[in-house]
Amino acid sequence: TRNIDLAVVAGDGIGTEVVEQGLAILDAAVAGSDIKVSTTEFDLGARRWHATGETLTETDLQRIREHDAILLGAIGDPTVPSGVLERGLLLKLRFALDHYVNLRPGKLYEGVTSPLAQPGDVDFVVVREGTEGPYVGNGGSVRTGTPHEIATEVSVNTAFGVERVVRDAFARAQARPRQHLTLVHKHNVLVHAGHLWRRTVEAVNADFPDVTTDYLHVDAATIFLTTNPSRFDVIVTDNLFGDILTDQAAAITGGIGLAASANINPDRTAPSMFEPVHGSAPDIAGQGKADPTATVLSVSLLLEHLGLADEARRVEAAVAADLAGRGDTVRTTAEVGRDLAARVAG
Ligand code: NAD
Ligand code: IPM
Ligand code: MN
Repeated sequence: TRNIDLAVVAGDGIGTEVVEQGLAILDAAVAGSDIKVSTTEFDLGARRWHATGETLTETDLQRIREHDAILLGAIGDPTVPSGVLERGLLLKLRFALDHYVNLRPGKLYEGVTSPLAQPGDVDFVVVREGTEGPYVGNGGSVRTGTPHEIATEVSVNTAFGVERVVRDAFARAQARPRQHLTLVHKHNVLVHAGHLWRRTVEAVNADFPDVTTDYLHVDAATIFLTTNPSRFDVIVTDNLFGDILTDQAAAITGGIGLAASANINPDRTAPSMFEPVHGSAPDIAGQGKADPTATVLSVSLLLEHLGLADEARRVEAAVAADLAGRGDTVRTTAEVGRDLAARVAG
């Protein structure tokens, strides 16, 4: 028997709704096998913060560390000041567990309507750096609230941090048929960080001679994601550009309800974390309207990461089949989950 100890952070808003379905599909994927999934639910997010003032304690973090992987729904709530949970919980997890590869596939499945008239064959992955950039919290504000206020958010880019994520992106590009890597940055303006990224890509390319590379400034990258998304294979970029580009990637591949992500610690010194790209969607929370597909595809990435490639493929195939037959039918969160679980069960 193989035991998988899964930490579950359902979180806020639609997070709880989509995670419930994600877990049901995970169960269906391992049913009848010798794989046993045990889950530990962590009460983290808005409820906990209101009750205790805590976001993520050292004890929480220590307990989470003891698991094989984390499934997360979404974090953030209109009743909590913006940034408290996002920084104190979600980003704290990504940083503390060294999730330096934030993997976000951009794939247009058959049967899915893209807002683009002729999207072509869209199948790329964004390797978003996960532990640096303006997300590190290196900044501040002086003379706050006065006409003389100065607010800074310094983007931190280390040679160590850039190299390890660029190397991971090259390895992924090498393993894909097209073997192409696009660096996205803005080195015409952000000359310090931008040139570090450019030099790093050039240097690491020597170890991956089969991989071809090109470069786009981030503003131009948004043009090509709209006009010619099929040109992309692997995109490597920093934390903030990657955040923005992957919402755009979601939009062109059928919407945020389908976009999956993996926060990976490739060195496996801590559990990796799997979550939909979307947030807690307060506008539709509690109404059974959220599409759980992004979470289910994140479960597929989770299975893959744990070495369960067959199970991962079955979950992805179930989603692909569901999407192919979806048309204009409207289903609740639970109905989509039920249909996917049935497909996984075969
Ligand atoms: P959002 O992703 O929550 O919502 C954007 C839009 O997409 C909304 O109209 C929402 O209804 C829709 N949407 C999102 N997920 C959907 C789904 N599964 N099915 C159907 N529609 C879906 O982004 P936002 O409104 O900018 O942020 C809301 C809160 O979530 C904020 O507190 C934000 O900080 C947080 N957030 C958290 C995460 C995360 O936990 N990883 C990611 C993004 C935003
Ligand atoms: C995401 C979210 C987060 C990010 C926020 C909520 C901290 O937008 O997962 O894409 O910016 O990474
Ligand atoms: Mn985002």
